[in-house]
Amino acid sequence: MRYNLDQVIDRKDTNSLKWEFMGHLAPGCPEGTLPLWVADMDFPCPKSVIEALHARVDRRIFGYSSHRNEAFMAAVTGWYLRRFGWSIPPEDLLYSPGIVPAVGYLLEILTRPGDGVIIQSPVYYPFESMIRHHGRETVANPLKDDDGYYTMDFDGLERKAAEPETKLLVLCSPHNPVGRVWKEEELRRLGEICFAHGVTVISDEIHCDLVRRGVKHIPLKTLFPEQSRRIITCTAPSKTFNMAGMLFSNVIIHDPDLKTAWDGLVNKQLGLFMPHSLSIVAVEAAYNEGEEWLEQIIDYLDGNLAFLGNFLQKHLKRARYRLPEGTYLAWIDLRSYGNEEEILPRLIREGRVLVEGGSIFGAGGKGYIRLNAACPRSILEEALRRMAGVLEG
Ligand SMILES: Cc1ncc(COP(=O)(O)O)c(C=O)c1O
Repeated sequence: MRYNLDQVIDRKDTNSLKWEFMGHLAPGCPEGTLPLWVADMDFPCPKSVIEALHARVDRRIFGYSSHRNEAFMAAVTGWYLRRFGWSIPPEDLLYSPGIVPAVGYLLEILTRPGDGVIIQSPVYYPFESMIRHHGRETVANPLKDDDGYYTMDFDGLERKAAEPETKLLVLCSPHNPVGRVWKEEELRRLGEICFAHGVTVISDEIHCDLVRRGVKHIPLKTLFPEQSRRIITCTAPSKTFNMAGMLFSNVIIHDPDLKTAWDGLVNKQLGLFMPHSLSIVAVEAAYNEGEEWLEQIIDYLDGNLAFLGNFLQKHLKRARYRLPEGTYLAWIDLRSYGNEEEILPRLIREGRVLVEGGSIFGAGGKGYIRLNAACPRSILEEALRRMAGVLEG
């Protein structure tokens, strides 16, 4: 089936964080502001998901539910086998309502207060806030920026991983916000350094399915099959199929003791073992039948991100932007247009465009914006025109 991704779908009165709660990020946004901030897409979910939800709603009873049945597990593990050649034992596939909370639970299980946790900024900011709120120490190993192409600082990583307090690294793969999809040699080097020093890696691979044509995402665990204790992978249908509000994500833990610790904290202590009755059917239908839809989404995003690059070249000439290898997030250097503190409020007030300022992503982010390009092209174009109007006058 062909999806019309140019179609603008009204998200008003759907409790959309992106459209109806912009004040969450920017209090006092003017009426008509275009939201290109929080990472969800303005595209409808796959038809299979909608149909599965309708059928489930028609059953009319929404009692306590469990996803731990063979068909569900086969849907999820089948996806990773087909798309990445990664065979995940079903018993290693655990549930969390989100990856951000999962990072919090894993910090509790894997580290003690005061332990060091490496992050490679600029990076998805809840990593740093989770580390802080759980009383652990952030060990910053900023990425290296070579004219907009970001790489990991392996010398820094070697030094920081060797410090006795360092116990964990949170990897963002593909990387939000800089859009890198890490190559095999980069992932191997990262793993070799971390494991040589007894540092565990949480590999957040939530964006793994959304990479440009011709780019390949490699699950870290497939490169280190023997590292059962030292690699925990987080993935989700939330970004892939645009169902973040379904609050379902996958935490893949292989080591039996860690699984017991997870069970003790997450299931027994916090009582979070049970997903929502509707999300179970939605997730199963997405993984089983969402592939055709995803292929169209990937093509459309490729088109949007290329369009954005062309637009900037013509109308915002001083902006620096490199096509992201993965994610639908554009990381744009606006430093030659002035200070972030001035530009962002002007984009909102005068341009009525809401994007995220780079400084929240930590070291190296100041003066950049993160723009979510997962919307119909007409919205993207209008937002870019407004931005050009503000910045180029
Ligand atoms: C790298 C990364 N991890 C996690 C999340 C959110 O995870 P969740 O909604 O499952 O908590 C996002 C959302 O943008 C993200 O970019």
